[in-house]
Amino acid sequence: MEKVRFTEEKETMLGTLYGRALDARRADSVLADTAADEAVRRIDYDFARLGVNQDTAMSVVIRARAIDELVRTWLAEHPDAVVLHLGCGMDSRVFRLDPPASVSWFDLDYPDVIALRERLYPRRPGYATIGSSVTDLAWLDQVPADRPTLIVAEGLTMYLTATTGTELVRRLVGRFPSGRLVCDFFSTLGVKAQVVNPVVRRSKAKLHWGIDDPHELERYGLRLVSCLDATDWAPPDVVARLPRASRLALRASALIPPLRRMGRIGEWTF
Ligand SMILES: C[S@@+](CC[C@H](N)C(=O)[O-])C[C@H]1O[C@@H](n2cnc3c(N)ncnc32)[C@H](O)[C@@H]1O
Repeated sequence: MEKVRFTEEKETMLGTLYGRALDARRADSVLADTAADEAVRRIDYDFARLGVNQDTAMSVVIRARAIDELVRTWLAEHPDAVVLHLGCGMDSRVFRLDPPASVSWFDLDYPDVIALRERLYPRRPGYATIGSSVTDLAWLDQVPADRPTLIVAEGLTMYLTATTGTELVRRLVGRFPSGRLVCDFFSTLGVKAQVVNPVVRRSKAKLHWGIDDPHELERYGLRLVSCLDATDWAPPDVVARLPRASRLALRASALIPPLRRMGRIGEWTF
């Protein structure tokens, strides 16, 4: 068993990992992320601590699935791409999507998070990890800069500040010849709602960066391609797997734009 001691934003990735593991244990699993379940069984940590259960796990899984679909679609057209998966935590997206070895995939997170990944997940061709804060931009030197580049970040932007986040975007766009950014983000209301988010509250993580209009990032050399409100992330067959109370809450928040837009997934090109 791997004993872990993560706090604040690093600890939150144990909540999302557990969500995918719980989903993998269901007969009607959405992601079938067996690597997540195996990792949870090997980590010595009180996974109930962050308040994630079978029902709340679905919001994690729905977000991951929506981002998987965008990544899968783009990679199908760019089999020679570089993928930068920023703030990867223990997410096994590379195993779920299983890209060809012609894709160079980099998983980046803090060094101690990456060290845990290295202990628990197998190596694979075309795959490498980077242990660094994403805002310490020297890590960029480790990544080839001559191919179309997909930058993916799930559950990361809100932990950055507007200053470090926009500087990161500016540097990424300046370094790679062309590509896509796919990430979720919170509105300023979503950032304020951190006080009622059990994973954030119990880990004592702090959310900072809220984006109310995804066009804001166009100032840094991106062009918005699409933006999906949280209530549009799940297709009907996945919504049907939600408990009744969650389905009702989803339907109600779809009617109220500020609630619907507290969490969104954006896709920008550059
Ligand atoms: C909510 S978790 C999401 C993890 C993963 N993307 C997932 O969906 O399971 C947030 C992740 O962002 C990482 N993170 C936050 N700030 C970071 C930074 N400045 N540099 C690198 N990673 C960061 C944390 O360590 C954590 O793994």
